[in-house]
Amino acid sequence: MSDSLRVAVIGAGTMGNGIAQTFAMHGHSVNLVDLNEEALERGMSTIRRSLERFVRKEKLSAEQSEEILGRIQPTTDLAGAVGEVRIAVEAVFEREDVKRGIFEQLDKHAPSGAILASNTSSIPITRLAAATGRPEKVIGMHFMNPVPIMKLVEVIRGNRTSDETLAETVRIAEGLGKTVGVARDYAGFVSNRVLMPMINEAAFCLYEGIATREDIDTIMKLGMNHPMGPLTLADFVGIDVVVEILDILYRDFGDPKFRACPLLRKMVEAGKLGRKTGEGFYAYD
Ligand SMILES: NC(=O)c1ccc[n+]([C@@H]2O[C@H](COP(=O)([O-])OP(=O)(O)OC[C@H]3O[C@@H](n4cnc5c(N)ncnc54)[C@H](O)[C@@H]3O)[C@@H](O)[C@H]2O)c1
Repeated sequence: MSDSLRVAVIGAGTMGNGIAQTFAMHGHSVNLVDLNEEALERGMSTIRRSLERFVRKEKLSAEQSEEILGRIQPTTDLAGAVGEVRIAVEAVFEREDVKRGIFEQLDKHAPSGAILASNTSSIPITRLAAATGRPEKVIGMHFMNPVPIMKLVEVIRGNRTSDETLAETVRIAEGLGKTVGVARDYAGFVSNRVLMPMINEAAFCLYEGIATREDIDTIMKLGMNHPMGPLTLADFVGIDVVVEILDILYRDFGDPKFRACPLLRKMVEAGKLGRKTGEGFYAYD
C-alpha cells in the first residue's frame, strides 16, 4: 500500500462515493463533501452496500469493512474538509459553472501544494484550472463507473499542468490499484472521443435498418470481444449523456463525424434514457 494520505472528495453521488470508497480501501483518510445530509447519507449507504458485497465475496473481512467506513468522514463543510489535504478530487454535477465555483473554493482553502483534480468526463481541465491561482496543480482524474471495480483512470493533463503534478497523480492512482492512461486536454479526451462515435454509429445502424438492436450488439460483442454491445452500453451510460457528449465533440472539433444520430435525440425527447428510466434501446424492470 502507498503512504496514507488525507484526501477530500467533493460530491457524494455515483462517482464521488465510489472514489471515496476506493481511497479508503487503500488506507487513505477521506473527507467526503456534499451539499446536504441527505446526499451524504445516500452516498454513505451506497458505500456500505458496496463493502457488504466485498465481504460476501470474501474479498474483505467484516472488520476491514468497518475500518474502511471509519476512514470516511462525511461533511457539508468544504472549506474545513480540504484544509489539510494532499489531493482533492471534484466529482460534482457535470456543469462548468458549478465546477468552476468548486475549484475557486478548493484553491482558497486547500494547502498551496495540494493537487486539485476533477473527475469531469468532458469539461476542459484547462478551463477549470483557470479558475484557480495554481493551474500547474490542476489535473483530470477520470475514474470509470463503478469506481471500486474498474481498473482504468484516464489522467488528463491540462495546458498548464506541471510534470510533478502529473507524476504524483499517476503515483496516487496506481497506489489505488488502478492502471493509468494519460491524455491531453481535448474534448472527450481519449475514452469518450473513441467510445461515443462507436455508440453513435451503432445507433445509425439501427436507425437505417442495417440490423436489429440484438444483432448489432451480438456482432460487436462477439466480433470485437467487447464485454457488452454498444447499444447495451449506451443504456448503461444514459442516452442523454451520450447525446450531450457527442454535442460537445461536434461543437469543439466542428467535425460532422460527431453529429448525433437523430434516433438518439428522439429517444431523449421521449424520455427513453436507458436503464435509469427503465427503457432505452432495451426495456428494464
Ligand atoms: N456517472 C458516470 O458514469 C461517470 C463516469 C465518469 C465521470 N463522470 C463524471 O463524474 C462527475 C459526477 O458524476 P456523477 O454521475 O457522480 O453525478 P451525480 O449526480 O451522481 O453526483 C453529483 C453529486 O454532486 C453533488 N454536488 C453538486 N453540487 C455540489 C457542490 N457545490 N458541493 C458539493 N457537492 C455538490 C450532488 O449533490 C450529487 O450528490 C461528473 O463530472 C461526470 O461527468 C461520471
